[in-house]
Amino acid sequence: MKTYFYLFAFFLVTFFSIKTAKAQTSAKTLTINLTDIKADIAPDMWGLFFEDINFAADGGLYAEMIKNSSFEFPSPFMGWSRVAHDGAEGYHFVQGYEEEGKNRRYLRLQRLNDNGTFGMQNDGFRSMAVKEGENYRLTFLARVAKGNSLSIKAQLRGQGNEVAAEGTVKELTDEWQEYEVMMPSKLTADNINFRILLEGEGELDVDMVSLFPEDTWMGRKRGMRKDLVQLLADMKPGFLRFPGGCIVEGFDLDNRYQWKNTIGKMEERDLLMNRWNVEFAHRNAPDYFQSFGIGFFEYFQLSEDLGAEPLPILSCGLACQYNSGEMVPLAALDEYVQDAIDLIEFANGPLDSFWGNKRAEMGHPEPFGLKYIGVGNENWGPQYIERADIFEKAIKAAYPDIIIVSTSGPSPDGKEFDYLWEELTKRNAELIDEHYYRSPEWFRTNARRYDNYDRNGPKVFAGEYAAHSTTEKDPLKKNNWEAALSEAAFMTGLERNADIVRLASYAPLLAHVNAWQWAPDMIWFDNLQAYATPNYYVQKLFSTNAGNHVLDITYNGQSLAGEEGIYASATIDDHTQELIFKIVNTNPSGQLISISLDGRYNGKEKGKWYEIASDDLTIANSFDEPKAIHPNEKEFTVIHKKINLELKGNSLNVGRIKIAK
Ligand code: AHR
Repeated sequence: MKTYFYLFAFFLVTFFSIKTAKAQTSAKTLTINLTDIKADIAPDMWGLFFEDINFAADGGLYAEMIKNSSFEFPSPFMGWSRVAHDGAEGYHFVQGYEEEGKNRRYLRLQRLNDNGTFGMQNDGFRSMAVKEGENYRLTFLARVAKGNSLSIKAQLRGQGNEVAAEGTVKELTDEWQEYEVMMPSKLTADNINFRILLEGEGELDVDMVSLFPEDTWMGRKRGMRKDLVQLLADMKPGFLRFPGGCIVEGFDLDNRYQWKNTIGKMEERDLLMNRWNVEFAHRNAPDYFQSFGIGFFEYFQLSEDLGAEPLPILSCGLACQYNSGEMVPLAALDEYVQDAIDLIEFANGPLDSFWGNKRAEMGHPEPFGLKYIGVGNENWGPQYIERADIFEKAIKAAYPDIIIVSTSGPSPDGKEFDYLWEELTKRNAELIDEHYYRSPEWFRTNARRYDNYDRNGPKVFAGEYAAHSTTEKDPLKKNNWEAALSEAAFMTGLERNADIVRLASYAPLLAHVNAWQWAPDMIWFDNLQAYATPNYYVQKLFSTNAGNHVLDITYNGQSLAGEEGIYASATIDDHTQELIFKIVNTNPSGQLISISLDGRYNGKEKGKWYEIASDDLTIANSFDEPKAIHPNEKEFTVIHKKINLELKGNSLNVGRIKIAK
């Protein structure tokens, strides 16, 4: 009898504990009133922040495989080494052009005999990668300085000296000329290097050695990496902020980003040390320079490709205040202001304007339709305000419709932040750029940050944000699920307050796994492939399910921003006639949710449900497991105007359902 009693007790305990493990609480009823529109959402709200940090441009998005392709690095052979085997004898050196220009040097190869193999090797950006069956386009400038019947052999070779691809150029002339060779690859491999070999006795001058996959984004010559741009395009971003970030300001003023040096022919673009080259002793990158293969024309073009508003940020005449803090005197600020005015002309000006004509010469006669311009990045103090005032006056006088983005400094709170907000509010600033790199907990507890912002004050551009999984300086801050889930929780707050928060972008965007300086980042790549982080999937779910009006989603009459671990926002998409809701459950346990629809629901359709969930908050994606955590697609049905959902623990849930007109 005793045994039966214990068995029965065991059955009861097991039965109830299984039930409670599934969903620990009874259903919470949330309400959405479909006819009560609270605010409009900016059509470009969710966008991208791009900065050339972590080898995001050179060595990343810019598909150029040769590092230091025109020998302009301060150490002219950085990235290059001499090849001389099997009795080959010769010299290599750089020589300066006689005429002053931005392309200052070229390589001279002098071969003293015809034995063995002689030339130069380039190791790319932490090596190179090739894919079987793909074509690689080599271009270079060359002129014979001495000798007859010289020729060039080019090779892509693996670590075991296996030849992946090769090509030959004969009949070189004694005039500078551009040569092009297509080299199909026989294998897929990383750890590849490139050799340019001189055959025959004599001297040859070589410059602008460039190697690209033929298969770039949109098939453009000297274009961008297709896989990386595709990941960006899939997000359907509303805007593209460029070129940063601190790179705008520079270590000092000479090191600031000057857009005029980044346009025109490649040889007219002025190489500049990347400020992240020296920034972090623990992530030193002495070979990090900006070739400007992606310059301002390409940023505008990329924005257009992505259907995103271009959002350039310019130096305000203050270098990075964490570094030199060098400041241009107000009397000398004109050049900086003129750069801003000229940039607007470059983007939007007619063909008979000087800069509009430059744009047309580069292949884009149509205007780019620039709407925004940012003045300064993470600058602070009265020195910023003084400079911003001068920019504002000049820009608005010339282009009254351009929207100016002002900075509130590097922190989302504190004395400098408050000072800038107060001063900018007095000046009726249009959009204020706020940055927050904070702990996951900060993101969860700040989901109401914008609930009490002045509805009549400046609007906000949440221009850089990311939850940092550790606050220690050196250790790798991982793109784990806790960080991404906390960002999602916070983002429901941005969406609920879309009347204040007009634009938002995660930062930084891209990182080379073997060459990064800053983590976390949204997309990681090596020379062969890329993977998206959970943070990417969160951003993508928000940007591809934005809607254009905010609705209230309430629990007991209140919005949800962390109460009992739940965060929620809802929108309506007038174009597709859909209700969209986002619910984040930060509880480790499941949660039953019932959403009651008031108003115009027609009760016919099934809804789509995108869910990202994991019990393990430390889970992250990797090359081995690129989709360890990513969205699953499910369905839900509506019964008597109610959506019943069983949310998993630690989950982001995005639902869409058709509604009546
Ligand atoms: O996103 C990385 C850096 O963080 C940006 O360059 C800067 O604006 C911020 O401090």
